[in-house]
Amino acid sequence: TQAVLVDGLGRRARDLRISLTQACNLRCRYCMPAEGLPIMPREELLSAGEVVRLVDVAVDDLGIDEVRLTGGEPLIRRDLEDIIAQVRARHPELPIALTTNALGLARRADGLAAAGLSRINISLDTVDRDLFASITRRDRLPDVIAGIDAAVAAGLAPVKVNAVALRENLSRAPQLLRWCLDRGLSLRFIESMPLDADETWTRDGYVTAAEVLDVLGGHFDLTPLAREDSGAPAERWRVDGGPGTVGVIASMTRSFCGACDRTRITAEGRVRPCLFSDDEIDLRAILRSGGDDAALAAAWREVTWRKSPGHLPADVLTHPRRSMGAIGG
Ligand code: GTP
Ligand code: 5AD
Ligand code: SF4
Repeated sequence: TQAVLVDGLGRRARDLRISLTQACNLRCRYCMPAEGLPIMPREELLSAGEVVRLVDVAVDDLGIDEVRLTGGEPLIRRDLEDIIAQVRARHPELPIALTTNALGLARRADGLAAAGLSRINISLDTVDRDLFASITRRDRLPDVIAGIDAAVAAGLAPVKVNAVALRENLSRAPQLLRWCLDRGLSLRFIESMPLDADETWTRDGYVTAAEVLDVLGGHFDLTPLAREDSGAPAERWRVDGGPGTVGVIASMTRSFCGACDRTRITAEGRVRPCLFSDDEIDLRAILRSGGDDAALAAAWREVTWRKSPGHLPADVLTHPRRSMGAIGG
C-alpha cells in the first residue's frame, strides 16, 4: 500500500492532531464544564513512548506531514518537552505545532523551542481581565500574557492567537486585534461549534464570522488575502495595509469539511477522524497487545475510510457525545 491516508470520499489526511490529556487549568464556557472533565487515570493516557510510536506510523506508513499536539491543555503533561524531542530526533523535517492556553508557558517556552517545537497557537478570547475571568472561569490573564511574550521571545514564530467569537467578546474584537497587531501576532476568530460540555451552544445564538468582520471593518481597513493552502481553515485579511493579518475560521457558516485534511488521536489513543462523528478506533489496545506498525496503520486506515462527510449545517447540527476538551481542539 501507498503511504497515504485517505477516506471513502477521496480526502487525504496530512495533518495529525494528538490530544495529550483531557485535563485543563481553565474552564472556558464554550468547552469545559465548571467542574472540569473527569480525571483520567494515568494508565488510560498514551505514554510518551506510545505517542512517539504513533507519530512514526503516521509519518512513515500513512504519509502524514504535520503534527499538532493539543489537549485539553498539553502543557499539563510534564513530559511534553520529552515527547517533542523524541519526535524531532526521529523526524528532523516534520513541522510540530502546539495548541495551548499558554498557562505555564512563560517557564517552558525556551525548553519547548529547544526540544524542536516548530510553532504555537495560543487560545485567547479577550485582553480584558474581567471578561477573561468570566469566559474562562479563572482569573489568569496575566499568566497567559507572560506565556505569549515568552513564546515570541523564544522565537516560536509565527505565534497565532485563536479567539472563539462570543456575544461577550464581540464588541472587544477590535481591542484584541490591536493588541495582537502591536505584538506581531496573527489573530484568528473562530465560530463557536456545538462542542461545549455544557451544551449551551445554540444555532441562533452563536456569533458568525460575518458579524466579527462587520465589527472589525468599523475600525480597520481589511484587504482579503489568499488562503495559506486549500485545506487551511482560516480566511485571512491584511489589516490597514500593514504587515499584520486577521483571520476567521468559519466552521459553521462556511464549512470546510469538504477539504478536511485532519486526522485526530484522542488522549486515550483512539483515532477520531471527524470532530462531529463518534466513530472511533482504539489504537491503544493494539499498541498494548503488541500489535505491529502494520496493524496500527491498518486500523487507522479502516476508520478513516468510513470518515463522515462532515458536520451538518447549523440549523440541524447536534452535539456529538464528546466535547472539545475531550477530543482535542
Ligand atoms: P494552523 O495550522 O496554524 O492554521 O492551525 P489549525 O487551525 O489547524 O489549528 P488550531 O488548533 O489553531 O485550530 C483552530 C480552530 O479551528 C480550532 O480551535 C477549532 O475550533 C477549529 N478546528 C480545528 N480542527 C477542526 C476540524 O477538523 N473541523 C472543524 N470544523 N474545525 C476545526
Ligand atoms: N467551538 C470552537 N472552538 C472551540 N475551542 C474550544 N471549544 C470550542 C468550541 N466549542 C477552541 C479553543 C482553542 C482550540 C483548542 O479549540 O479556543 O483555540
Ligand atoms: Fe482548556 Fe482550551 Fe478548553 Fe479553554 S478551550 S477549557 S483552555 S481545553
